[in-house]
Amino acid sequence: MKKQGEIVFTKYGPYTIVDVPLYTEDGTFIETPRVYSLCRCGASNSKPFCDGTHGKINFVGERVKNKLGKTKIYAGENISIYDNRYICCHDGSCSLENVFLPNDTPWINPDGNPDIEKIIEIIKLCPSGALTYEINKEHITAWFDEEKIIFTKEGPLHIQGPIEIKDDQSSDEILISKDHYSLCTCGKSKKKPFCDGSHDD
Ligand code: FES
Repeated sequence: MKKQGEIVFTKYGPYTIVDVPLYTEDGTFIETPRVYSLCRCGASNSKPFCDGTHGKINFVGERVKNKLGKTKIYAGENISIYDNRYICCHDGSCSLENVFLPNDTPWINPDGNPDIEKIIEIIKLCPSGALTYEINKEHITAWFDEEKIIFTKEGPLHIQGPIEIKDDQSSDEILISKDHYSLCTCGKSKKKPFCDGSHDD
């Protein structure tokens, strides 16, 4: 797949989107120019678009939690599940009995369900890229054919497809999968530009 789109920004302003179509959560296409700006300070009156309010509130979108932690590998007989807690946006998609056990340690049991396709299906629902998997000795991190940005009303932007991010905090180096990730739009994440679930606080 040919990479086309990019997201460019600094600590002080919005996400400038270049050549990536925008959709709502229910799949409705939102018409935009080729280059447009999406709010990340959380204060725009024209969300998802930036209306310049970030300047009035002196927004500084600096990452404050910089300890990245390691990707953990939960090795199973037929599938291994990789988990990177840092980029998790806590959207709760990882729900599968006996495999994802949020109240247990370890919280992932890759052998908890014999239906490997079902486990893969659930991993692919994780919008942040925190969960990926290994099967037949191959670490699979990418599965989106189409580049798009999905705007969620009370939550992050979900980025799908290998859309490059270019910013002044080298944020692209944090990503496990450049194929999908979730960007903060409320201005409260401590792991900016990535969503850390703070919009629910
Ligand atoms: S980033 Fe410009 S108004 Fe929020």
